[in-house]
Amino acid sequence: MRYHSIAIDGPAGAGKSTLARRVAGELGFLYVDTGAIYRTVALKVLRAGADPDDPDQVIPLLQGLDIAMDYGPDGEQRMFLEGEDVSRAIRENRVSGLASRVSAIPAVRDFLLDFQRRQAREHNVVMDGRDIGTVVLPEADVKVFLTAAPEARARRRYLELLERGQQADPDAVLRDIVARDRQDESRPVAPLRRAEGAALLDTTQLDLEQSLERLLTLIKEKLEP
Ligand code: DC
Repeated sequence: MRYHSIAIDGPAGAGKSTLARRVAGELGFLYVDTGAIYRTVALKVLRAGADPDDPDQVIPLLQGLDIAMDYGPDGEQRMFLEGEDVSRAIRENRVSGLASRVSAIPAVRDFLLDFQRRQAREHNVVMDGRDIGTVVLPEADVKVFLTAAPEARARRRYLELLERGQQADPDAVLRDIVARDRQDESRPVAPLRRAEGAALLDTTQLDLEQSLERLLTLIKEKLEP
């Protein structure tokens, strides 16, 4: 049987994970949050006290690295590092910046490539990240580049942090988002960019429900022409 895949890429805070999760629920597909996988590697780097920009310190940590993923009773993706459920720990703000830095190392990307592709070989997936349409699943049935103005993305991320009970400063959130975009877009390997054939969806002026409706419409048009 051939499985379907939907690739959703875009910068931080564009609403990818919320929208991808909802779309997957609507279509009965598995939602794969690839950022969570990079975050788990970043957490390992943090805990090991390694320099996230130094491949010589990061690469040895990949050997025998025990990372696993499953879906909890609520259907939420969970990440495990060396058997420990780190699903909450990887959401800390300091891990976001680290994940972006660690993910610029080509060996880290190579290490995770097969892990991600396997999900699409074994399930119908909605997969979100930065390079899903360009590198991980270039043959995806539908490719979407989801974006919004940096200020809109920072506002959403700030509200999300507050909701999770985390302290946040709105200016710092915007600065972090802009810095992370620059880092993700300018790395030499698998930089964040719109894949060939990807539909562009800008959600700056749209609320969540409007964004979901647009996204579902364009996905259904491609899946059932
Ligand atoms: O989507 P996120 O914010 O959880 O991702 C965290 C970082 O991981 C992001 O800044 C860059 C990296 N990442 C990546 O390089 N490729 C992906 N497919 C997903 C995430």
